[in-house]
Amino acid sequence: MLCSMCLILFLSNTISGSSESVILTYGNNSCSGRLEVFYNNQWGTVCDNGWNLSDAKVVCREMGCGDAFEAKSGAFFGQGGANIFLSEINCVGTESTLSSCSSKKPGQFNCDHSKDAGVICRSLVRLVNGSHFCSGRVEVLNDDQWGTVCDSGWDYSDAAVICKEMGCGNVFDLRISGFFGQGSGPVWLSDVQCSNTESTLRQCNLQGWAKNSCGHEKDVAVACQRRIMLENGFSACSGRVEIFYNRSGYNEWGTVCDNNWDLTDAAVVCREMGCGNAIAAKSAAFFGAGGGIIWLDNVNCIGNELTLAACQSNRLESNNVHYKDVGVICQCKLVYIRILKEYCK
Ligand SMILES: *[C@@H]1O[C@H](CO)[C@@H](O)[C@H](O)[C@H]1NC(C)=O
Ligand SMILES: *[C@@H]1O[C@H](CO)[C@@H](O)[C@H](O)[C@H]1NC(C)=O
Ligand SMILES: *[C@@H]1O[C@H](CO)[C@@H](O)[C@H](O)[C@H]1NC(C)=O
Ligand SMILES: *[C@@H]1O[C@H](CO)[C@@H](O)[C@H](O)[C@H]1NC(C)=O
Repeated sequence: MLCSMCLILFLSNTISGSSESVILTYGNNSCSGRLEVFYNNQWGTVCDNGWNLSDAKVVCREMGCGDAFEAKSGAFFGQGGANIFLSEINCVGTESTLSSCSSKKPGQFNCDHSKDAGVICRSLVRLVNGSHFCSGRVEVLNDDQWGTVCDSGWDYSDAAVICKEMGCGNVFDLRISGFFGQGSGPVWLSDVQCSNTESTLRQCNLQGWAKNSCGHEKDVAVACQRRIMLENGFSACSGRVEIFYNRSGYNEWGTVCDNNWDLTDAAVVCREMGCGNAIAAKSAAFFGAGGGIIWLDNVNCIGNELTLAACQSNRLESNNVHYKDVGVICQCKLVYIRILKEYCK
């Protein structure tokens, strides 16, 4: 994904059963920016009255962006247009969505766009040098520096927490000892003890930072289970459909051919991505031609399947040109914000 696209990424999180969603716009990366919420089918900003770090924490968590670094006031990220939808947001800080926090709604406050609120979030974990954004060498951020994790005492529960924190599903493959290459910088952690009840690595028993004599040949890595992604779209919830299959022992990403591709099929992809409803099913490489194998053709979902793999389809396994690759446009929901951040570097 080109970096110029990152500036217009609309990463939002549709809150089920409600018409409010969260979006961050115009920051330096997809995990910081002006906060916008979707309300009655329109986007609007949030007034900075009462806006503080406890509120920002909830937004960062909901966006999958880790912890909050700063809550910004006074239109730090520029002024939004038209609507201001919320004010006096008052989160405890542990809520999982902004909609669970109390706030004043339109008609209950006066504000103007010079007071638009923003956040700067910090992702604290990333996966480096893997075959896709849900696999790679585990790196953690501490003291403004990325470092690695030693494989001493590393087990399934630890890897599971990483996959969860990345929004990447379950552990697919537990890799230890430098499988995705050796990192540089500090080996921050060793003998990490997670019980898999934690939702972020920071909540695990970490035994202290840089308290080990491990070398980078023992850097841990993980492959998480996520088997579908959307590439080259204009949001985290649109793009060319890429699916992951294990053929002849090779794990490979590839695409889907557009014969009979329709909105019912797209709806299944959107559901699997955690992206809300399907808005459009795209054909003819609308989001560009992919590479690798074209895995499937004539996909025929009923519509209630939980994954694309559960739909009826022809297994194509073709290496032909990709001019018929399918894509989808789903309602926005933030799923893979950290990954987009990586693409933006
Ligand atoms: C955005 O990036 C610019 C240039 O790197 C920097 O000067 C600015 O402080 C950054 N803004 C934020 C909010 O991080
Ligand atoms: C944010 O504001 C609320 C309400 O005034 C307050 O209870 C909370 O302690 C504040 N949080 C921080 C981090 O200042
Ligand atoms: C990426 O991983 C490969 C092994 O899969 C390794 O040879 C290479 O050095 C790694 N690159 C980086 C930047 O870590
Ligand atoms: C991939 O398939 C091969 C058999 O073709 C099997 O041995 C291997 O365990 C599979 N790998 C995964 C990760 O499922």
